[in-house]
This record gives sequence, C-alpha cells and structure tokens, in this order.
Amino acid sequence: MKMVVAMIKPHKLDEVKQALSEVGIQGMSISEIKGFGRTGGRTEVFRGSAYQVDFVPKIKIEVVVTEKQVHPVLDAIERSAKTGKIGDGKVFVLGVEEALRIRTGERGETAI
Ligand SMILES: Nc1ncnc2c1ncn2[C@@H]1O[C@H](COP(=O)(O)OP(=O)(O)OP(=O)(O)O)[C@@H](O)[C@H]1O
Ligand SMILES: [Mg+2]
Repeated sequence: MKMVVAMIKPHKLDEVKQALSEVGIQGMSISEIKGFGRTGGRTEVFRGSAYQVDFVPKIKIEVVVTEKQVHPVLDAIERSAKTGKIGDGKVFVLGVEEALRIRTGERGETAI
C-alpha cells in the first residue's frame, strides 16, 4: 500500500475529488494547510514583497491506495489539479505498512 499526499490549489478540490472518485477512490482525508515550494509562494499572493517568501493556503489530500492504483491516481491528480500556473502543487508517494478498518477488523488492502 502507498499513501499519496497531494498539496493542491484550494479551488481545485472539487475537480480533484471528482477525478479521484472516477478512478475508484472511495476514501480520502483533506486538510487546510499553508506552504511554499521552490518558487517560495511569490506572485501567488497580492500583498507582500515579490522578493519575500510567503506561506500560501493549499489543500492537502491524503489517500491510501494499492500499488496498482498509484499511477492512475497520480494521473487523475495531474489532470484535474493543473492550471499551468505556478503553485499548482506537488504530490508525494509514501509507503504504508498496515491498515485496519475498525468496524470490521479487516486488515491490509481489504481495509482500504
Ligand atoms: N519540498 C516540499 N516539501 C513539502 N511540501 C512541499 C514541498 N514543495 C512544495 N510543497 C507543498 O506544496 C505546495 C505547492 O507547491 P508549489 O506548487 O508552489 O511548488 P513549486 O516547487 O514552487 O512549484 P511551482 O513552480 O509550480 O510553484 C506548497 O505550498 C507546499 O505546501
Ligand atoms: Mg510555487
């Protein structure tokens, strides 16, 4: 299992959520975060100096998937989150050791 962690533009959330459900994703978590990448958040905000690094609001999506789902999920996120402008976001893929669906006691991939 893998966890796909995507930091995206907040206004893209509905589109990304839709694209993920179209590739069979049934569960996910989101949180409101702030961050910056290599461009340092510059020109993404109105106030503040163009030479200063600023935290910019983003949505973090966390979705645990099977190995087979990783590439379709990355493709779906890329397709749906992209505007072509700076700050479109970043995606990281992490290994996941174990999963447990508490109600049923299912473990591993069947718990996802
Ligand atoms: N190396 C990183 N580690 C953790 N989070 C990151 C990293 N890089 C980017 N992020 C997160 O992803 C968000 C979006 O990053 P962003 O798309 O601005 O990256 P970038 O490298 O500056 O690319 P771009 O040139 O498209 O702006 C950031 O606000 C931050 O929350
Ligand atoms: Mg950036």
